[in-house]
Amino acid sequence: ALIHRHKFVLTDTPFTRLCSNKSILVVNGQFPGPTIYATEGDTIVVDVHNQASENVTIHWHGVKQPRYPWSDGPNYITQCPIQPGSNFSQKIILSDEIGTLWWHAHSDWSRATVHGAIVIRPKKKNNYPFRKPDVEVPIILGEWWKSDIQAVLNEFLSNGGDPNVSDAFLINGQPGDLYPCSRSDTYNLTVEYGKTYLIRMVNAVMNTIMFFSIANHSVTVVGSDASYTKPIKTDYIAISPGQTIDFLLKANQTPSHYYMAAHAYAIAGNYDNTTTTAIIQYKGNYTPPSSPLLPNLPGFNNTNASINFTSRLRSLGNNDYPVDVPKNVTNKFFFTLSINLNPCPNNSCAGPFNERFRASVNNITFVQPNIDILQAYYRRIRNVYDDNFPSNPPFTFNYTSDIIPRALWRPQNGTEVKVLKYNSTVEIVFQGTNIVAGIDHPMHLHGYSFYVVGWGRGNFNNDTDPLNYNLVDPPLMNTIAVPVNGWTTVRFKASNPGVWLMHCHLERHISWGMEMVFITQNGKGKDARILPPPQDMPPC
Ligand code: C2O
Ligand code: CU
Repeated sequence: ALIHRHKFVLTDTPFTRLCSNKSILVVNGQFPGPTIYATEGDTIVVDVHNQASENVTIHWHGVKQPRYPWSDGPNYITQCPIQPGSNFSQKIILSDEIGTLWWHAHSDWSRATVHGAIVIRPKKKNNYPFRKPDVEVPIILGEWWKSDIQAVLNEFLSNGGDPNVSDAFLINGQPGDLYPCSRSDTYNLTVEYGKTYLIRMVNAVMNTIMFFSIANHSVTVVGSDASYTKPIKTDYIAISPGQTIDFLLKANQTPSHYYMAAHAYAIAGNYDNTTTTAIIQYKGNYTPPSSPLLPNLPGFNNTNASINFTSRLRSLGNNDYPVDVPKNVTNKFFFTLSINLNPCPNNSCAGPFNERFRASVNNITFVQPNIDILQAYYRRIRNVYDDNFPSNPPFTFNYTSDIIPRALWRPQNGTEVKVLKYNSTVEIVFQGTNIVAGIDHPMHLHGYSFYVVGWGRGNFNNDTDPLNYNLVDPPLMNTIAVPVNGWTTVRFKASNPGVWLMHCHLERHISWGMEMVFITQNGKGKDARILPPPQDMPPC
């Protein structure tokens, strides 16, 4: 395996979109940031230089970082921020990840502009479990705010309501020509008739699951979250913030120009109902249409379309890529995911009933500590966190009904972790609730991938639902959308000692506290222990 070295220089750099100008925080002057290319099992060293004016941390989303949480990146979970004028050299240790992942800032809302793709190719050249594509293209879905992203964050945290929506969605950094003043801001993909393109799609959008589709072309999904899937032919894709999807696009239609387009799937809160476009241009001699054909995207509230797509994902599950779902579960957790409210001084907040939005897991709103949990754990510093994260909600109730016990509106604050024994097996049932508002939650776990063994609508039934779990070929993911008014069950083996964050990947929900932390203890033997920290950990 190779060691690749990269330099990431963070700067505030001016960019123009939608005919307006502003400075954004970016890596190496690029937006989206640079793509990192690697081969299965490689190690990548990234020297991060913060030459911008704000604190930042960088996370390598979906990289398990075996025994090395020090480079994982979430602010105040595994490190303190990299301050302006300082550097941090991060080691990204790949193991069995194969396909597409991404990197992004993991402090405040900086990930809006600080992100890029990680492309992990198979070890043996051309060794894909599908016909080798002719061309590979990363496509990143993103968002553009005309105002400063830090101001958006501060405003919504202080007024307690929903955040402002962005001014445009983006495909590879460009809004496409359906927005006001965006004619020149369109990403073009030139294709050749007969060739096959492997599209490596990342959803870097802040607050919404996205639908994506290409006019006149169906595509074949072959992977998600750096794990191969059984091929799925489809006309559209639903992709959660945090998730990646690899799909094959065959250029087999009449040479012309076609739109690819994406818009939000959103069922609660403020959301942006605009559509971002890019153009697929076939090479050749023809007169392009004055306006390319637009694809049919599922509607904004089409929960069925979102669930139907996601529930088709299956692990490849063959001899080369075997499935290894834990059969016996040591740790059984039932986690409710809720939006909550808290009173505001003078009833002055912008949330429902003039209160302030909060969010919780098992009715605990996560409070960020002042020094990182990893350091506190490793150096046994007291009073930074507690290890009382509950395995179940405070009591059972009808999670998906509208009549909700008032007591659950007001979650408790806490910096609580759940401790896992090395190599124990974990099952989490995520149960969405209808407290205040029901919505899908794309749940993301650091340090692991999990098998998604089941999902359903309504309340989880402990007697009957487990009978239908898929233990044969469940998809291996690091981010899974728990459907609105429904539940999802995941399983993994706690084989990676460290401190690992789990959270909803909607930025507004993580800002409201929908996150918790697992600490996986060391096992016996030196290969089962956290590696020592590097010398240059950013000071707290
Ligand atoms: Cu994509 Cu905690 O991150
Ligand atoms: Cu959420």
